Amino acid sequence: MRTTVGSDNITIDVHLTTQDPAIDRAEIRNGLLSSPRVLPTKYLYDDRGSELFEQICELPEYYQTRTEFQILVTCADKIIARSDADELVELGSGAATKTRVLLDAMDRAGQLNFYVPFDVSEGIVRRVSQELVEEYAALKVHGVVGDFLSHLEHIPDGGKRLVVFLGGTIGNLDDVAGAAFLSSVNKAMELGDHFLLSVQFVTEVNRLEAAYNDSKGVTAKFNKNMISVMQEMVRADFSPDAFDHVARFNHVESRIEIFLRSNKRQAVIFQDLDLVLSLENGEEIRTEISTKYDRKRAEQLLADANFELVEWYVDSDELLGLALAKKL
Ligand code: SAH
Ligand code: TRP
Repeated sequence: MRTTVGSDNITIDVHLTTQDPAIDRAEIRNGLLSSPRVLPTKYLYDDRGSELFEQICELPEYYQTRTEFQILVTCADKIIARSDADELVELGSGAATKTRVLLDAMDRAGQLNFYVPFDVSEGIVRRVSQELVEEYAALKVHGVVGDFLSHLEHIPDGGKRLVVFLGGTIGNLDDVAGAAFLSSVNKAMELGDHFLLSVQFVTEVNRLEAAYNDSKGVTAKFNKNMISVMQEMVRADFSPDAFDHVARFNHVESRIEIFLRSNKRQAVIFQDLDLVLSLENGEEIRTEISTKYDRKRAEQLLADANFELVEWYVDSDELLGLALAKKL
C-alpha cells in the first residue's frame, strides 16, 4: 500500500491501480473465455473513463443523475438528522458531485468532520479530495483507492458514519456479487452507523435503453474506452473501430446489459494473458450490467445483508430510490 499526505487535511491510501503488476490477469482471461464473454466493469473507470462518465451524468438521456440530485436536495437534511453522522463514507465516489448536497447538510447540522471517498480511480479520488478540503474549511478527507469488492476492510476508523453508495451502482453487481458486497459493507460498519443505498427502479424500456445509448455517442465512447484500457493493461491488440457499442434491456433479468460487439471476424491477441481470442462477426463481450429493481427486491437485498430499513426517499416518478438503513 502507498499512503500520501497531501496537506494537513488530506490522506490518500492506494491499494490498487491499473498500472499494478499484481492486476488480476486470471480474472480477465477467465471472463473472456466464459459464456457469455465478460470483461471486469471496474476497468471502465481509468482516468479517461471517469471523465467520460462525468459527461454521461450531464446527458439529457441519463435521467438518473439529476433525479438522484433532486431527491438529495429535498431529503439530505432528513437523512443527516436520521443518521446523526459526522463522517461520510462514499463507495464508488467518482466525481462526488451529488455528495456535496450531503456534505452541505452535515455542515448545516454542525457535524461535518470526515469524508472518505473510496474509488478504483486514483486520479478522481485525488482530485475530489483536493477540491473538497478547499470547499469545506474544517473537513478532513481520507481517500481510499481500491476495489470495493475486496478492500472494504481498508475503510479508515472514524466517527459515527453514514456510508453511501449512490448512482445505482449496486445494479452493476450481479445478485451473487451484490449480496456479498452488501454483507461486507455491513461487516465494515459499527452498530449505530447508517447506510444509504441508491437503487434504480424499473421504468419504460425506451427510457432505459436511451439512458445507455445516448444520441451524442458519449456512452459508446465510454464503453469503447475499455478497449484502450485493455491495450495498455494486458497488451491487447484490438481496435475500438472493430467493435460497436450495444445496450439493451434484458426483461428476464430486469437489467440493462452493455456489450462490445465485434463488427468483423477477428482474432485478438492478448500478449500478457497468453491468449488469442477468436471472435465471429456479431459476437459480443459484456462490459456492464445495470439492474433495475422494485422496492421489495431492494428491501430483500438489505435484509439479507443484516440491514434494517429506516426509510425510503423516492422521486415523484418513482425512477430512483434512496433506502436509508441501519446496521443490525
Ligand atoms: N457515485 C458517482 C459515480 C457512479 S459510477 C455517481 O453517483 O455519479 C461508479 C463509480 O464506482 C465510478 O466512480 C467507478 O470508478 C467506481 N467503481 C466501479 N467499480 C468499482 C470497484 N470495483 N471498486 C471501487 N470503485 C469502483
Ligand atoms: N451506475 C451507472 C448505472 O448503472 C453506471 C453507468 C451509467 C454505465 N451509464 C453507463 C455503465 C454506461 C456502463 C455504460 O446507471
